[in-house]
Amino acid sequence: MPNNPTKILLLTTLVSGVLVSVSSNSWLGAWMGLEINLMSFIPLMSNIKNMYNTEASLKYFIVQVLASTTLLFMVVMKTLTEDLFTLESTAYTPMIICTPLLLKSGAAPLHWWFPGVMEGLSWENCALLMTVQKASPLMLMSYLIEINMFTFSIILMSTIVGAIGGLNQTSMRKILTYSSINHTGWMLIALALSESLWTVYFAVYSTLAVTVVSAIKLSGVSFINQTMMTNKEATLMKFMMFTSLLSLGGLPPFLGFLPKWVIIQAMIMNSLAPMATIVVVTSLMTLYYYLKISYSSFMILSTEPKWNMKAPSNKKTSNITALALSSISMTGLAACTIIANIY
Ligand SMILES: *[C@@H]1O[C@H](CO)[C@@H](O)[C@H](O)[C@H]1NC(C)=O
Repeated sequence: MPNNPTKILLLTTLVSGVLVSVSSNSWLGAWMGLEINLMSFIPLMSNIKNMYNTEASLKYFIVQVLASTTLLFMVVMKTLTEDLFTLESTAYTPMIICTPLLLKSGAAPLHWWFPGVMEGLSWENCALLMTVQKASPLMLMSYLIEINMFTFSIILMSTIVGAIGGLNQTSMRKILTYSSINHTGWMLIALALSESLWTVYFAVYSTLAVTVVSAIKLSGVSFINQTMMTNKEATLMKFMMFTSLLSLGGLPPFLGFLPKWVIIQAMIMNSLAPMATIVVVTSLMTLYYYLKISYSSFMILSTEPKWNMKAPSNKKTSNITALALSSISMTGLAACTIIANIY
């Protein structure tokens, strides 16, 4: 929690915006919640001392306003054919109303703003953008989404863009962005299959995203080549960073595999095996480059310079947070399977 009254206020209204849109029973209420949420995130992002922050907040503002106005327009248009702003829709409106929500959450063909915005943000805001900001659009989409060609193409594009976009990135923020686009695709699958599945996925994904961000922030690394330059004492930090990154990539012994496993199983049970195949193959591709960047750091013979930049001196609390979160990410899958087998 930041020690700054303005930020505390804005964080509170940000979360209450999410709650308003998630719990409203009409589209106007949902739109209002989204707007409260946006209007509290913008001032959180901008920082006069950093022009990248300002640029990112402007980009984000324009894109989100485009999405909100489109949503409002479509919701109002809906009242011409169906009465009132009820959430249940009939006939052909659902997929159209989905589009602005997809833009808000950054799913594939509408993801273009996402990397640019993330690149200019502080790590805390990156974490917010990847987790809290996705909650309300995705939740609203659960009223509309159904298994059809439109949903399929969005999901496939999201996972493919997530896999290919991250391939040659050196910036940690870009890698996290493409991973977030990819996870949005997976969350859409979960949403189309069942809502509780989505809840599990979203909870685990948010935990892991926060874990990765806190570990990365602790080691003060913005680009992957900087991981080679951290000093000997930073071994634990490196370990935390890469295990949580691999966990986010869904490598089996870690927690990130749990939602992936559950969703693959649900997809096969719903006879979506062909799609499961494609989606798993793209996730294999991403695991390749996650492994590529962690491999050299994990090796005993990895090079470590004798003298180098000092790791930023950290507060003890952020150390403990990162350690606690990454131990959750490392042992979570084992714990969950044990608990599931006891009952
Ligand atoms: C996309 O999500 C899947 C499932 O969690 C994961 O296996 C894969 O590694 C992810 N890709 C990226 C780029 O994070």
